[in-house]
Amino acid sequence: MGQLPRYKLLIPGPVEVAPEVLDEMAQPLVAHYGPEWTAYYKETVELLRRVFRTKGDIFIIPGSGSAGLDAALGSSIAPTDKVLILSNGFFGQRLLEIAQSHATNIEVLSAPLGQALDPMIVKKKLATGHFEVVAVVHCETSTGVLNPLQEIAAVCQEHRALLIADTISSLGIEPVCMDDWGIGICVSASQKGLEAPPGLALVAVGEEAWRWIERGNKPGWYLNLKVWREYTQKWGDWHPHPITQPVNNIRALRKSVERVLKEGLENRFNRHKEVTTYLRQGLRELGLTPFVADEIASHGVTSVVGPEGRVEELLVYLREQHGMLLAGTLGELRGKVFRIGHMGPTAKFDFVRELLETCAQYLKHVGAFS
Ligand SMILES: Cc1ncc(COP(=O)(O)O)c(C=O)c1O
Repeated sequence: MGQLPRYKLLIPGPVEVAPEVLDEMAQPLVAHYGPEWTAYYKETVELLRRVFRTKGDIFIIPGSGSAGLDAALGSSIAPTDKVLILSNGFFGQRLLEIAQSHATNIEVLSAPLGQALDPMIVKKKLATGHFEVVAVVHCETSTGVLNPLQEIAAVCQEHRALLIADTISSLGIEPVCMDDWGIGICVSASQKGLEAPPGLALVAVGEEAWRWIERGNKPGWYLNLKVWREYTQKWGDWHPHPITQPVNNIRALRKSVERVLKEGLENRFNRHKEVTTYLRQGLRELGLTPFVADEIASHGVTSVVGPEGRVEELLVYLREQHGMLLAGTLGELRGKVFRIGHMGPTAKFDFVRELLETCAQYLKHVGAFS
């Protein structure tokens, strides 16, 4: 009783976590303030700056990634702002839902499921009138499309719109150069490309973005970035955040970010790319088609079409017979497409080879592959 089954996590987050990272979750509690903690916390923020490639502020907010999105949108949108949400899937819709809770003058620019947003179309849209804030998902995890974040950031800069980027399933997997690309606010989370347990939202705020955040008084306290900055400054020498931090989660994140930086960001990007190429080729050899074209495919999650009428059965087979947990998908693709997470520790040839071999066994067993 009370035991949860242990599956190998091949879902697009949370991901498998290294034993030394997990060990940090089991360490005795320390206080979330005082000189030692403050130094440790500030060093952790410094490490995260290297991952986001920013000199800006970084706030580690207890909560899931969506808390970070709510903080970013809620703190920067003024109620009368015109906001543009770019959407090509479930998480683009999530941005819309969050934005709608903060403003009413919202427009949506959509691309079909499985296709990337086109920066030229975004540019044309921005030319139709002044939008104060634009929000986009970098890797649309529901389909595995990687949107052209750098190009979208460039057109937002041209039109002096603040860009909020959801890099929850891309940071640590794909290049994200927050300052060089001119991203206003970048939101991520602990449980995907950074290979730590879930529970922390990461919000990186560039210097320029404060111009939007400082306009007027935004409602709310906990997810208000102005409050986070005030406390970081006011209490910076002993308690550099407004609330009691989940110290063990932060220790685990710190350890995992150290590992990420030790591997090297470029090495990680290459590893994820190579594994993705290998996986996509292997799937095609099995007669399974990636849902997204190679050129716009993310390197941390791959969505796969079919086997027709058997997607659910395949997922159950992988889970129950082989202990591998893969993800289905939502909405109109449900039952037709499944998703493989290959983020962090599972972006390894061995994992992918084993998965492909197991899929081949299943397909042979049901007579769908010879
Ligand atoms: C791109 C993206 N945005 C937002 C979220 C929501 O994050 P959370 O479930 O941590 O709130 C996810 C989670 O899968 C995601 O992949």
